[in-house]
Amino acid sequence: MLTVLAREELTAHPVVTDRLFLVPIDVNDGQDLWFAVNGSRDTLRRFLPWVSYHNDITASVRFAEACALDWDQGRAFRFVIRDREKKKLLGVVGLESLVHMHRSCELGYWLTDEASGKGFMTEAASAALDYAFGRIGAHRVRIAAATDNHPSLGVIGRLGFRFEGIAREAEWCDGRWLDHAVFALLIKDPRPGLRKP
Ligand SMILES: CC(C)(COP(=O)(O)OP(=O)(O)OC[C@H]1O[C@@H](n2cnc3c(N)ncnc32)[C@H](O)[C@@H]1OP(=O)(O)O)[C@@H](O)C(=O)NCCC(=O)NCCS
Repeated sequence: MLTVLAREELTAHPVVTDRLFLVPIDVNDGQDLWFAVNGSRDTLRRFLPWVSYHNDITASVRFAEACALDWDQGRAFRFVIRDREKKKLLGVVGLESLVHMHRSCELGYWLTDEASGKGFMTEAASAALDYAFGRIGAHRVRIAAATDNHPSLGVIGRLGFRFEGIAREAEWCDGRWLDHAVFALLIKDPRPGLRKP
């Protein structure tokens, strides 16, 4: 079984990296999430199907509420990513689709346009992997990215994921079918060191 750490504990003691901290998404994050998604929707909607349906602040509030419930019920652990200095919300990284029996989950993430291109996601996702393997007992983490999502494929490569295959026309997104490149990382796989900020 995977370990479900209490949200309150993680909120009091966030996952900290060189430049960022990661806290479980809370119902109070609805407004920040809305501004982040809405301000970067042209980029995000190309690869995240839900963005086209995320059209007002109530959608963000509902999402934040669902995240809290999913966490408490051990279905998904999603974190807001904030910068340590200004505490600004930069994006989200999450461990999705937890399968307790097989100790597996899927990694998902996005960043605002403003936060992109600085290595923040590599840093945040690496911390999420540390959390998955080191604190909740994951054995395998899977990730899928569209075959033309080059920024995401870059993150996946820097994190040391291994390619497993192509899932053809796996997702309908922004008016087209996305072919998914599927990757996974096992607890025993080597992980490359991170480039220093
Ligand atoms: C996928 C996504 C999170 C990647 O963001 P990103 O900013 O490219 O990724 P990182 O934060 O790791 O930054 C990497 C970039 O910063 C640069 N960088 C600067 N300092 C760095 C550092 N210390 N470490 C690593 N990269 C660094 C890298 O060179 C790279 O830039 P390049 O692509 O021009 O070479 C972002 O494009 C996004 O949100 N896309 C839309 C949603 C999405 O596709 N989600 C994933 C679905 S699978």
